[in-house]
Amino acid sequence: MMTERCGQVSAEVIILGIETSCDETSAAVVADGSRIMSNIISSQVPVHQRFGGVVPEIASRKHVELINSVISQSLNEAGVNFKDITAIAVTYGPGLVGALLVGVSAAKALAYTLNLPLIGLNHVESHIYANFLSNPPELPVVCLVVSGGHTDLIFIEAHGSYELIGRTRDDAAGEAFDKVARVMGLGYPGGPLIDKLAVGGNPTAIDFPRAYMENDSFDFSFSGLKSSVLNYLNKAKMKDEEINMVDLAASFQGAVVDVLVDKSLAAAVKYGVKNILLAGGVASNTRLRQQLTQQATSFGISVRYPEPVFCTDNAAMVACAAYYKYLRHEFAPLTLNAVPGLKLGEDVY
Ligand code: KG4
Ligand code: ZN
Repeated sequence: MMTERCGQVSAEVIILGIETSCDETSAAVVADGSRIMSNIISSQVPVHQRFGGVVPEIASRKHVELINSVISQSLNEAGVNFKDITAIAVTYGPGLVGALLVGVSAAKALAYTLNLPLIGLNHVESHIYANFLSNPPELPVVCLVVSGGHTDLIFIEAHGSYELIGRTRDDAAGEAFDKVARVMGLGYPGGPLIDKLAVGGNPTAIDFPRAYMENDSFDFSFSGLKSSVLNYLNKAKMKDEEINMVDLAASFQGAVVDVLVDKSLAAAVKYGVKNILLAGGVASNTRLRQQLTQQATSFGISVRYPEPVFCTDNAAMVACAAYYKYLRHEFAPLTLNAVPGLKLGEDVY
């Protein structure tokens, strides 16, 4: 497609992004990394809800059923044909291997038949780039990626340059939300339910532990907190005491958020950055957004986070991250495979 800019006619880079790393089948068409022409997300949450979590085999089968229609819908809504597409981008890791394979196979088939460049994306990298979809922040930044599978603190000096400065040693933050919600009998996924329930609750009502780790480490740990909530519930049940679920939700959430905020700020100060980015499903959390923004202000640091729809898994963020790889000519071969344990900044082709 041609667009006119400052009197000059230039070709837009229109990328079709595909995301199937977990339980969302998504395809999006994004021009120049920022003009979202479509972003179709078919969530499997209702399918997995009755199991209390994602069942990998079911997720793969659902992706197979949905992928073609989700891709067609993304083109229709964008008002484009395959001939308008500049490159095909796909998440190839980390994630569930069977789920990733569906997106990777579809992307390779399209790249081959349409003779288009193929771009392989790391899922964590795509979450980061959800912040670049509109009004891209200036680098360097520190980004906290908090989702169901990840809790990573990353220093980003330039596009494509990532230094992992902290990560969880056990559960991811979103996983802790989901597991605690389950023992509280709230349902799945637990993050949004706890967020909602905690409104009006007292975050200091119950003194849950905050794991800060040795030697000012930027690593995280949430399994001790999860056990404390379980013990609290069991003790109350044994003593036949009534539980204030609103205070419980607020206190658990408060403990998670305190550590995430403190470590993100300490990292931003240590690395001398003026911008902190939040990314991943947990970046939608109301208290995390509020507390981090409020506390960062006193350090002269600004905080950015994507709209909720771009925090959870979606293909618009894949197409956006791919645009920057396109500009660097980082293309994947047609032998691209799913890499469930893919590390950030380490392409495996
Ligand atoms: O990024 P995402 O869609 O999938 C992964 O890549 O893991 O994140 C999903 C996670 C779930 O654990 C969900 O409970 C959590 O994000 N989440 C939240 C909120 N919204 C989603 N956690 C806390 N507060 C929220 N408002
Ligand atoms: Zn994700």
